[in-house]
Parts: sequence; structure tokens; C-alpha cells
Amino acid sequence: MDRIIVFDTTLRDGEQSPGASMNAAEKLRLAIKLETLGVDAIEAGFPAASPGDFDAVKMVAGKIRNAQVTALARASKEDIDSAWGAIKEAAHPRIHTFIATSDIHLEHKLKMNRDEVIKAAIEAVSYAKSFTDNVEFSAEDGSRSDRDFLCRMFEAAIEAGATTVNLPDTVGYAMPDEFGQLVAYVREHTPNINKAVLSVHCHNDLGLATANTLSGLKAGARQVEVTINGIGERAGNTSLEEVVMGLYTRRDHLGLESSIDTREIHPASRLVSMVTGIVVQPNKAVVGANAFAHEAGIHQDGVLKNKMTYEIMEPETVGLTSNRLVLGKHSGRHAFKQRLTELGYELEENDLNRVFGKFKELADKRKEILDEDIEVLIAEEILRVPDTFKLDYLNVVSGTVAVPTATVKLIIDGQVAQNAGFGIGPIDATFNTIAKMTKTRSKLLRFSINAISGGTDAQGEVTVRLQENGLIALGKGADPDIFTASAKAYINGLNRLEYLKKNPSLAPEERSL
Ligand code: KIV
Ligand code: ZN
Repeated sequence: MDRIIVFDTTLRDGEQSPGASMNAAEKLRLAIKLETLGVDAIEAGFPAASPGDFDAVKMVAGKIRNAQVTALARASKEDIDSAWGAIKEAAHPRIHTFIATSDIHLEHKLKMNRDEVIKAAIEAVSYAKSFTDNVEFSAEDGSRSDRDFLCRMFEAAIEAGATTVNLPDTVGYAMPDEFGQLVAYVREHTPNINKAVLSVHCHNDLGLATANTLSGLKAGARQVEVTINGIGERAGNTSLEEVVMGLYTRRDHLGLESSIDTREIHPASRLVSMVTGIVVQPNKAVVGANAFAHEAGIHQDGVLKNKMTYEIMEPETVGLTSNRLVLGKHSGRHAFKQRLTELGYELEENDLNRVFGKFKELADKRKEILDEDIEVLIAEEILRVPDTFKLDYLNVVSGTVAVPTATVKLIIDGQVAQNAGFGIGPIDATFNTIAKMTKTRSKLLRFSINAISGGTDAQGEVTVRLQENGLIALGKGADPDIFTASAKAYINGLNRLEYLKKNPSLAPEERSL
């Protein structure tokens, strides 16, 4: 079987999802997870975009030893200098430079003619090559470019030293048969194509990213550019889990394999969702909550008789454990650590102690602690920053006749403060009171609440996204009481905003902490 190269761009194109930007610590945590997953290359960011992203890419480059670490750069010396500055300490660095090749981009965006664009690409690749042998060139909007010009461009880029040439369907416009034909055309009409790896990078505007990527592979591409959960610009990128499981499940048909450890897919998916605050739709292929749920009676009957009647993949293959060991208040640290390992988390001693302490507190309130509960506890700790504000007490009154009222006691910079306020509903009352006490000027961009597991005793998991003066911060909170969970999430978001204000280098415009 031919082995394909998995180039993960969750930390770069994925981060371009509205509101998904990540700080350096979050990128590092995800990069470590991606390495465990077995991706060949991690695109860690776009260092020229902001000082914060430069630092984040540098941190990833300093830590990751097996996977290649890639940084994106426009076709300019400044961008390439910045990319190289960020990844030069990596064990296997790669510079990824790009320029658009479609007429519409040339005319309206770049205001350059074809010869000028080829010249800029050659200069960029040659310059990148002066730093490292490992250079990727992308023809942005390649799928809408003139085919022969695209081939000329790839030929020139390879001649200048590109070791990978990438064909993006930047706006998700291509149809699978058409995209496959384009890949085949490029292979046939680019004379030196065998000196480079041909890559595909698809967007999901028409829901065809995975189909287009697989079609590209069938036509001879050997690198796929993907993101976990398919996050990315607009409707997202090709999702890693779909392509990898497509290759694995239909290896009989495709005859291709990847280096991905499929059992790490679910833990990686959950971590991306926790860090970005972007929930996975329940019917999402491979990683959605319903991906392995059989609802119809006929289906359940079939599965009980023989799983293969309605299951084309085993849940265990993608890291879903079937015999969920339920933990409770008598579970010790060892059992807890063991469960974390099974879920794919290796926490440092301090983090482990903190999460274990939280687990014990929760176990006093609830009889059974499920995997989802544990993951939320981890998320709360991952997103932890030094507390400016701490919730000490919350009392909420609401009902069919009561005016929703919240009484809140906070510890603000070590001082106790108490206040009460009203709202349209109990959460509004809670937030109004906290806002008054913390004097925040932030705007609430998003509020979402989710029951972590079934049952009315489930923990409520609340995510908020706050914005103040161009800074964006995510806040998370979980508790069996949804008002407390909401207050915790809001306060967590406010603490993260405070942290950003005090650490401006971590806080590039419009990036979250
Ligand atoms: O979609 C795209 O064209 C890109 C390039 C920078 C590779 O993300
Ligand atoms: Zn893209």
C-alpha cells in the first residue's frame, strides 16, 4: 500500500475558524496531541500574522520532535524571515509559502500579471530554500486557476526547490470528479512533478472537502491537508478523521494508508473542541456523538445479531471505549490516572493533582462520574489562568412569579465583595450582577450550555466568548447547577481577559487567550 502524508493544519487554517484562535499554551497542548495521533506535519501557525502567533509557533517548534513543524508565509521575504525565525529550532522544520494563481485573485487582489506572480513564487521558494531543504509551495485558489498556468507555476516552484506543491480548493468550489481530473492533469502536464510531493488542500463550502480530497488521492496526490473536526476558514477544511477513516475502512478500494493511530482520533477531537469552544455537531461523521448510536429498532436488532449489519467501523478503532468504567467517590488517584491515560491525557503531576482534587469535589455531589465529566474538569484546568475574580457564593431566585434575582459574593484581588441584581432570566441576573461588580466593559459574543451526559443530574457545561477592545477570551465552567456553571464560565472568561490585558504579548488583536 502507498503511504500518504498527513499534514495537519488545525493550528493554522483551523485557527482561522471564526472565534477559534488559540494562545501559545493551547497550541502547544494540541500539537502534542497531534504528534501522539501520528500526523506527519503540523502547520503551527502564520508567524507574520502577529507576535503572539510567532511565539506560539516557536513554542511548538521547540517541543515537537517527531512530526515536521511548518509555518505559513506569503510570498515575501519578511513573511519567510518570520516563518523561519519561528521554526528554526524545530527538529524537522518546513516553510510553507503561497501565492494565488487564479485570474480573479491576480486581477482584483494581487493586481499582478501571471509572469509577475511566477517570479514572486520563484523568489519566495528560493529564499525559503536558503533556510531549509523542506519547502512547500501552495497555489492559492488553484482549483479555479487556468490549468496550464497552474502547471507552469508548479514547474517553476519545483525548479526553484519546492519539495511539496499543494493544490488548494481554497473556496470549496470544485466537484469531486473535476478535482480528481485536475490533479491528474497536473501530474501529466508538470514535467518535473515527480521531484515533489503533490498535495491537496480542500475547503468544505459545498460539503465536498473529504470527497474532493479522496478524489485527489485517487488521482495521485500523496499529501492531504486536514484539520481535526474539519474546523477552518468559513465552512472549514477537510476533516482529518473522515479522510483517515475513509482510507482505513475502504483500504480494499483505495489501497492507501496513513501513519495515524486511529485510536487517538476521539481524544484529539474532544481536545480541539474544548480548546476552541467549537462543539462537534452530533451527526458529524466519525466523531459526532451519534456517529455510533443506533436508534431505529430494526438497526438495533441487526447490530445485536451482528454489529457489521449497520456498523462499518468499530467505535474502539477511533478511540471510543465500549466498556466505560464509571468512577465515583471511592475511586483512588491511581484509577483516576489510569482512566486519564485511557482517554489519551498525560497530565503533568501538578495538573493531575488539581484535576484529581476537582474530581473528588464533584464525586461528593454525584454518584457516578463519566468520561465527559472528567474531560470538562480537564478543560477547566487547561483554561486556568491566575484568578483576579473568584466566585465565593451565588444565590439565584427565579420562577413563574419571582423577579429573577442573583446575589453574588466574589473575591476580587483578595477582597470580598457582595452585590445583588436583576435580569430577564436567572442567568441574565447573574451576569448583570457579576458585570456590575467586576466593572467589566466586555461584550458577551457567545453563550452556550450543554448537558454533559444524559439525565437531569448531568453537569451543565457552559462556554462563553467575551470581547473587549479587540481581545477575545473563552470562558468555561461546569457544575450540576447550571446557574453556578454559567457564573463560573463568565468569571473564567473575565479572568482570561484580565490576563490578556496584563500580558499584551499574548494578546494580539482579535486572538483569544
Ligand atoms: O485555502 C488555501 O488556499 C490556503 C493556502 C494558504 C494553502 O489555506
Ligand atoms: Zn485553506
